[in-house]
Parts: sequence; structure tokens; C-alpha cells
Amino acid sequence: MKKVAELAPDAWVPGGTPDPLVERRDGAIGTPRARVDGADKVKGQARFAAEIPLERMVYAALAYATVPKGRIASLDTAAAEGAPGVVLVMSHRNAPKMKPVPMFLTKPKAAGGDNLPVFQDDAVHWNGQPIALVLAETQEQADHAASLVDAAYEAAPAVTSLAAARAQGTEPGSFQGEPLKLEIGDAEAALAAAPYRVDAVYRTPRYNHNAIEPHAATVFWDGDMLRLHDATQAVAHTAWSMAQAFGIEEEQVHVTSPFVGGGFGGKALWQHQVLAAAASKLAGRPVRIMLSREGVYRVVGGRTLTEQRVAIGARADGRFEALIHTGLSIMSPNNAMPEPFVMPARCTYAAGSFKLDVETAQMDMLANTFMRAPGEAVGTFALESAVDELATQLGADPVELRVRNEPSKDPTTGTPFSSRHLVEAYRAGAERFGWKERAARPGTRTVVEDGEEWLVGVGCATATYPYYRMPGGAARITLHRDGRAHVDVAAHEMGMGTATTHVIVVADRLGLAPEQVSVAYGDSSLPGVILAGGSQQTASVGMSVMAAHRELVAELLKLADKGSPLHGLKPDQVRARDGGLAGIDDPQRFDSYTALLARAGRDELAAEGSAPPPLETQHWSMHSFGAIFCEARVNAVTGEPRVTRLLGSYDCGRIINPKTATSQFRGGMIMGMGMALMEETQFDERNGRIMNPSLAEYHVPVHLDVPEIEVLWTDIPDPHAPMGAHGIGEIGITGTAAAIANAIYNACGKRVRDLPITLDKLM
Ligand code: MOS
Repeated sequence: MKKVAELAPDAWVPGGTPDPLVERRDGAIGTPRARVDGADKVKGQARFAAEIPLERMVYAALAYATVPKGRIASLDTAAAEGAPGVVLVMSHRNAPKMKPVPMFLTKPKAAGGDNLPVFQDDAVHWNGQPIALVLAETQEQADHAASLVDAAYEAAPAVTSLAAARAQGTEPGSFQGEPLKLEIGDAEAALAAAPYRVDAVYRTPRYNHNAIEPHAATVFWDGDMLRLHDATQAVAHTAWSMAQAFGIEEEQVHVTSPFVGGGFGGKALWQHQVLAAAASKLAGRPVRIMLSREGVYRVVGGRTLTEQRVAIGARADGRFEALIHTGLSIMSPNNAMPEPFVMPARCTYAAGSFKLDVETAQMDMLANTFMRAPGEAVGTFALESAVDELATQLGADPVELRVRNEPSKDPTTGTPFSSRHLVEAYRAGAERFGWKERAARPGTRTVVEDGEEWLVGVGCATATYPYYRMPGGAARITLHRDGRAHVDVAAHEMGMGTATTHVIVVADRLGLAPEQVSVAYGDSSLPGVILAGGSQQTASVGMSVMAAHRELVAELLKLADKGSPLHGLKPDQVRARDGGLAGIDDPQRFDSYTALLARAGRDELAAEGSAPPPLETQHWSMHSFGAIFCEARVNAVTGEPRVTRLLGSYDCGRIINPKTATSQFRGGMIMGMGMALMEETQFDERNGRIMNPSLAEYHVPVHLDVPEIEVLWTDIPDPHAPMGAHGIGEIGITGTAAAIANAIYNACGKRVRDLPITLDKLM
């Protein structure tokens, strides 16, 4: 083991020499570290978007349409205008001219959930669309006045049922510009010829975003500058997109978002920020908009529903001859987001033939959007349930069946995996969980507790999520003469541990202690276009810091005059260690950052770098993997299902901070529990209205629902990823619902293919 960090600044090239941090085992990477933002949060000193106080600020409230489609025939705002404390009522009649917000995935920095006009005409596109905004001196006054807005509609025929959407016909889905359809060989023929086969339809409902912090923004115009304190996962995207809406320069929008109370894909740009900025312009006063929990359901899209067919044809030895994963994803008309549920089937199993396809149909509803592991979360439910059904038919152990179909290279692209140790994760997880105690036959294990009889079962499922690193990464490192380093990067801390992870990554890269490093983020004026999405922020920031460090070393060596032991050395001849740089060939040639700066008479030295494009994903098939194990029980009388044990054994490359990583995995698995057992947006098919827009009626797991969740990982670095790390933010939700469904089947013999698995389906 190396005693010190020895880091060549430009050692990492895609598919080439690994990042030296990949193998380093004596640094901050891999050592549990408490959140750097933790103390501020528990002391109430962390200011969230709705906590920024501004002089003369007014509060916003929204009124929502009650028909799914049509036009506003009349809008009576007189009562609202006359209500106490009201400063302004804004509607399509008096809103400033604005262009539609560019819709996400259509432009590099587009952040809009849809691209519909905002308060520019009388058209209604979904049931719940904002139709008026009230500004008042207090939130209570605004809420009351908004309730007085009276609208009448000229309703148009709307598509609000799955049957009607399907009857209109389907279109092929595409995701990030790529078609989701893929065929290798003749999978239907192979299925028909296979001695063993399963062929079933799985359904997942709509889900809504329920971050603990509802969406909020505090907005004001500072001359020509629009300043926005927002709760967002995309500061740079939001700044650019708001500029497009208001027809101003990107530099005229400043977005800050230092703390975010959960994002999960939902904290992007929706109507509320645009409306708050427009109202602030009209009123000439700062505006705070805080969506109520109902408001989040009306204004912010969630995950759409899916209907998925999974068919697997297998030989007697369990090998897959055919893997078919097709189905339907519902979208709104102005939307770029089919739920890409075939993603797991592309890379998880070897098979003789493949047929993968996502068809889309349209419904008049609020635009659906990203939600933690879009595609994989619901796709693994279907795929991994089907694999379990096949194991039952074959009489095979579900773990062994998966191991038997482990591919040696990416099964649909032929590309080698950069790093895949799923079998090791299965073996370690099975051992730890006690998988060998499993009873193969359902309904054979019971337990009596507090006089109640429960059927007990276990199940497993594979978790998977791609490695991404989006273009646009950049960072600035500033070295101070006292030995401290500060990094500026437009990244986001939504509670995942990002700020802490980045301190760790920077410290090891520079050969400093974490205590010597500070990181600024959550500000669109900082370098980088870095989305907190796609589980890629750590890779993106890591690569950006690597690029900035490379520039920094070059600048430092320019300062190394004849008095420096480093004099004459080139950047690729030195490595960072112990608060300075050392020669690679002659480690005795060492100079500290402090000495280098002091000798040059500099107080500080700053360098900025841009990350290279993510070429690694073209050379390699890169994914996070995991094996989920669940023990569940089903009440013998009432059918009530409960999860009693949950374990995730992950293979996600190097784990940067074991402490926050454990929370990320656990949080994802808890969200998977919600999917499996309780979460469901109730959508009234008669009128497109969401019927349960509150946490009282949209159930998520609470502490009593959640058992001890064990998390382990292989910690095997990926030599082709910065720091050897894969993303961990989203994979936790994947596989979990299937592992629970499979455990419930093993407990009681009932196979539920429609989520959530509520007791009525088990009776
Ligand atoms: Mo995630 S759904 O990419 O925030």
C-alpha cells in the first residue's frame, strides 16, 4: 500500500491508464465521513429556497384548472383582487409576454417539464394546470384569495383513460435521442420453440414526487438581472431555460440552490418558477412561491404508468433462448419522456435472442417526468418478477438461474463491461442474508407473532442502473497560501451527501486533508453545467476536478523557480502528495503548495478546467449492479404484506463515502418498498384529476413500515471511471419492488403483477 497519494494529473484517459485514485486505499476515499452540511442542517442554519428573506417580499398562491382540456371561458378575479392583503392577481390576461420554456432533453440546457405556453392564452392542457396566481402580503392571504378565483370552462374532448389513449394508437418511444426498440434474432420464434417459457404482463401505476421539501422559489428582479433562489437539481439548466422564457441573456439569470430537500428527478423547471418571476416583474416586488403538497401534484410531473410484457424462453439448463420485454408507456402530448423500462433487459442477461420495445400513447395530463431510475425502477419490477416466475417453473434456485445467464460482455451491444461483479455481489448478499434457508415451495413457512399467523417467504432480484457522465463538466480550484483549497463547481446537494463526497474527492486529488478543503456549489455563476441527475454527479464533478487540477499543476510549476526543488519538472513528471507536489522519478524533489505560493509572493492561485467528453461510455458498457434480498410476510387472515428484512449487495465500483453511500442505497430501497406495497397516484379516468394529492392519501413508507436494511458492496473499482466509482443515487430503487414481490410469492404462492401489492390482491 502506498503511503502517500501519488497522482499524475493527466493520468486518466478513457479506456487508458486508470485514474490513480482508483486504487488508492489510504486516503479519504473509502473512509466514512459525516456530512459537511450536517451541522448547519440540524441547527436550522441551512437556508432552503423558501427561507431566503427579502425586503418587501410578497407571497404567491395558485388557482388550478378543474377540467383536463379546453379553454377558460370566463375568469372572475374580482373577489380575489378585493381580498385582504392582495397585491396582484395574474392570469393569461395580464401576464407579461413569455416564450415557452425549452423542454428537457430537447436542448443541452433545457430544463422544462414541458414546452407549453405559460399564462399566454386561455388554453387548458391538464386538469390542475395553474390558471391564476395571487400575490399577497402573507401566505395565508394569498392562499385565501386564490380560493376566491372563479373560472368557467369550455371543455374540449380529452383523453384521460388508458383505453382511450391506446385506442388512439401508439408510437415508438425514444429516449435521449435513441430509439428504445431493439431486436436481435427472432425472439418470438425462439420463445415458441423453448421448452420452458414465461410470458406475462406487469403493470405499474403513476407515481408522484414527494420530496420532503415541496418545490419553492424566492425570486426578484435586480434591474435587468433575474435572481432566483430555487430548489433545483439543475442550476445552470434553470438559468439558461429561464433566460429563454423571458428573452434575456443567460448571464442575466442567476440561480442559487445551496440546499435542496430531495429531488429524485422532480426538481426541475416547472410553471411555478416562471410564474413567480413573471409576477415579480409585474408587481415590482420580490416573490416567494412555495407549492403546497397539493400544488406539487398539480404543477410537477411524476412517473407515468406502464404496461409491460416480459417473456422468457429457456432451455432445461436455464439458459435464456429468448428475452422479450415490450410494452406501453403513457406520455402527455408535450413531453420527451417515455418511461424507458427496457433499459435493464439490454444489459442484464445473456440470451439467444432479444426483442425490446417501448411504445407510447398520449393522454391529456400533466407532463410526466424523471423519477428516480426512470425506466429501471419499473423495468426491473417486470423483468425480475418474470425471472422469478421462470425459476419456479424450472424448479431452479433464483440466484443460480441469474448466475447461469450472466453475460461475459454486453449482450445487446457486444461491448465489454468496464467492471461487472454482479455474481460476487449475489454470493456475498446470499451468504449474509442466509439465502440457503429458503424454502422452495411457497406457503410452507409460517410464524406466529402476537397471536397472528403470518406466511413467510424470501425473494431476490437484480438491481441495475447505467453509469453516465454528461458533457459540460467544469470546475475551478483555488489554492490558498495557508494550504487550504477551495473548489467552485455548479453542482447540487439535495441531501445525497454530494458536498461531503466532493470534499473527499478533492482532498485526495490534491494530496490534502479533507479539513483543508471547501467546496462551493448550487450556484449557476460557478463553472460547469452539471445536472444532479442520472446518478452521474460524482463522476462529473470528479472528472471536472481532475481537469482543473491538471491546469493547476501546470500553473504551480510555472511558479517553481530555481529555489524550488521542482524547478524544471513538467506536469506529467510530478504527483500530488502531502499538501504539495513531488517528482515521480525522484520523490525527494518535493515542494509544498504553501512554499510554492510564498516564494512567488502569491496569496492564492486559481485554475479552471473543463472535463473531456464522456468517451468512456463508448468504449465500455458501464453500469452499476446489485442483488436485492427480501424477507416478507403475509398475514394468513387479512392478507396484509410486510417486509421484515431487506438487504442490498451492490457492485458500484469504488464507494467514495461509505457513510452517505449507505444512506443513498437505503433511501432508494425504501422508495422501492413504497413502489412495491403502497405508492400509487389515483388518477380519475373520467376527468384526468389526481384524486390523492396529499401524503394522507398517497402513502409512502414510514418508519414502522421499514425494517433494518443491510447494505454491502464489492468496492471493486472500475478502472475506466473517475475515482473508480459508479453512480449510486438511483440504483437502490431498482430491483427492490421485484425482490419484495418475489418474497411475497414465496410466502403465500400469490403472484401479483400489478403494483402496488396491497392486501386485497393477496386475499
Ligand atoms: Mo434522477 S430521476 O436522474 O434525478
